[in-house]
Amino acid sequence: MLPRAYAGACLHLLLVLLTCWGFQAAQSKPVDEARLLLQIKSMWGDPPVLTAWNASASAAHCRWPYVRCNKAGRVSGLYLAAANVSGPFLEAIASLSRLKHLDLRNNRIAGVFPTSLYSCRSLEYLDLSMNHFVGELPADIGLGLSANLTQLYLGNNRFNGTIQASLSRLRNLRFLKLQDNLFVGTIPAELGDLTSLQELYLGYNPFDAGELPRSFRKLASLSVLAVWDSNLVGDFPSFLVGMRELKALALFNNSLTGSIPPGIWRLNKLQDLYLSRNNLTGHLVDDGFAAMSLKYIDLGHNQLSGMLPDFVGLLENLAILSLPNNNFTGKIPASIARLPSLMVLWLDNNRFNGTLPPELGKHSLDLANVSVDNNELTGAIPEGLCNGGNLDSFSTSSNRLNGSIPVGLANCASLQTLRLDSNQLSGQVP
Ligand SMILES: *[C@@H]1O[C@H](CO)[C@@H](O)[C@H](O)[C@H]1NC(C)=O
Ligand SMILES: *[C@@H]1O[C@H](CO)[C@@H](O)[C@H](O)[C@H]1NC(C)=O
Ligand SMILES: *[C@@H]1O[C@H](CO)[C@@H](O)[C@H](O)[C@H]1NC(C)=O
Ligand SMILES: *[C@@H]1O[C@H](CO)[C@@H](O)[C@H](O)[C@H]1NC(C)=O
Ligand SMILES: *[C@@H]1O[C@H](CO)[C@@H](O)[C@H](O)[C@H]1NC(C)=O
Ligand SMILES: *[C@@H]1O[C@H](CO)[C@@H](O)[C@H](O)[C@H]1NC(C)=O
Ligand SMILES: *[C@@H]1O[C@H](CO)[C@@H](O)[C@H](O)[C@H]1NC(C)=O
Ligand SMILES: *[C@@H]1O[C@H](CO)[C@@H](O)[C@H](O)[C@H]1NC(C)=O
Ligand SMILES: *[C@@H]1O[C@H](CO)[C@@H](O)[C@H](O)[C@H]1NC(C)=O
Ligand SMILES: *[C@@H]1O[C@H](CO)[C@@H](O)[C@H](O)[C@H]1NC(C)=O
Repeated sequence: MLPRAYAGACLHLLLVLLTCWGFQAAQSKPVDEARLLLQIKSMWGDPPVLTAWNASASAAHCRWPYVRCNKAGRVSGLYLAAANVSGPFLEAIASLSRLKHLDLRNNRIAGVFPTSLYSCRSLEYLDLSMNHFVGELPADIGLGLSANLTQLYLGNNRFNGTIQASLSRLRNLRFLKLQDNLFVGTIPAELGDLTSLQELYLGYNPFDAGELPRSFRKLASLSVLAVWDSNLVGDFPSFLVGMRELKALALFNNSLTGSIPPGIWRLNKLQDLYLSRNNLTGHLVDDGFAAMSLKYIDLGHNQLSGMLPDFVGLLENLAILSLPNNNFTGKIPASIARLPSLMVLWLDNNRFNGTLPPELGKHSLDLANVSVDNNELTGAIPEGLCNGGNLDSFSTSSNRLNGSIPVGLANCASLQTLRLDSNQLSGQVP
């Protein structure tokens, strides 16, 4: 005879099982959802990646690849990024009403924005980027989509019309990417209400000329602000210096004027600064420099002038210093030669004078591309440019360098491009 306690436990277990069974049967949803998935597969023309979605295994659809279910056995995630599917967006997807995570990134799915997704009240993550979506976003998109949405990716499609101000109602959004579409009009100031945003990508849209909305100063949690190729005009938005979390600021290829506020150089998390191809003027002002995380400084094709501040020689992580086509003057700080991570140094078409840092290449073993054409540089070619064995190109035409070509450069096996014309070099080619 079984001990009472054991029998009791068994009974309890049986009850639990029965309860679960009853619950599942009453819902009977898992089967429907398997059918929905099979319908999706068939309407997309049975793409090879979905072979494992098949009727014989239907009871186990929660274990099909690209599918995830919640504890109640309802489909909560579809992970179909780069699954090589083409066809229309299918209503059957939106009928998976407990979806939290829908990733259709990088396929060939076509159509207008699917408002059927409004019925997915749990949706937190929606990625439709890199597909063939067209047309205007619905005006009520921010009211229709789940208020729980934290990540919305619509980039690299052909959406047109204006960016809908109602997106600002999705107050939980942390990641919003709308770049590389055909959006026109101006960037709605309402987006400044999305105060939880960590990453905002709006770049590469044919917007009308306009300023970055001042309301963006409220986006205090932003770590990435990417508004390149967006027809931005007006002075460099000085409120950006208040975004203490900024890691990447990409405003290249706009028509921004004015100078770079010194506060930018106090953003201590800033890693990537892309401001090239604007109409920025003035000096780089060192006033309490703290941006020690900088890896990438891209200020080329502006009208910046004055001397390079010494802080560029202190950036342990700096890999790319790109300043071509400006009006910089004075010496290249010798300390640049001690940057351990430097790979690319582009200073061409400025008015730098003095010598190239004599130690350039000795301590930067990844140094790959150096271009200083069209400056007023004098003195010798540094001996150690190829010390790391990674030098790809060295271009220094139209300067006033003298002396001979160093042996280390002549023997540099990695070198693909070497331009030394229009200098005052002498001696034999070693
Ligand atoms: C159904 O999918 C399973 C894997 O989930 C696979 O082993 C089986 O071969 C498939 N059956 C058919 C008929 O494609
Ligand atoms: C992608 O799908 C197309 C047609 O649907 C097929 O011809 C092609 O082989 C697939 N490519 C891969 C990498 O699966
Ligand atoms: C929205 O998120 C909250 C907090 O995570 C959660 O309690 C709620 O159930 C979610 N709503 C839906 C419809 O999933
Ligand atoms: C937006 O795209 C749709 C579909 O491609 C097109 O019919 C419509 O004319 C476009 N609207 C504008 C304003 O360009
Ligand atoms: C800059 O943007 C213009 C349009 O605004 C575009 O035609 C051009 O190709 C872009 N240039 C670069 C280098 O990206
Ligand atoms: C920017 O500078 C270029 C060349 O210097 C000039 O043609 C253009 O009009 C300027 N744009 C603005 C907005 O100032
Ligand atoms: C560079 O500076 C010189 C002297 O200050 C000035 O004459 C010239 O116009 C400037 N060039 C550019 C492209 O800003
Ligand atoms: C380099 O340029 C600066 C500023 O234009 C000037 O003051 C200095 O005399 C120049 N130095 C040399 C060596 O030509
Ligand atoms: C460096 O120079 C080589 C040869 O000129 C070029 O192929 C390569 O793209 C350059 N690297 C970068 C990061 O631009
Ligand atoms: C190179 O030019 C500098 C002056 O700019 C001069 O002092 C030096 O002697 C020259 N070196 C050679 C090797 O001609």
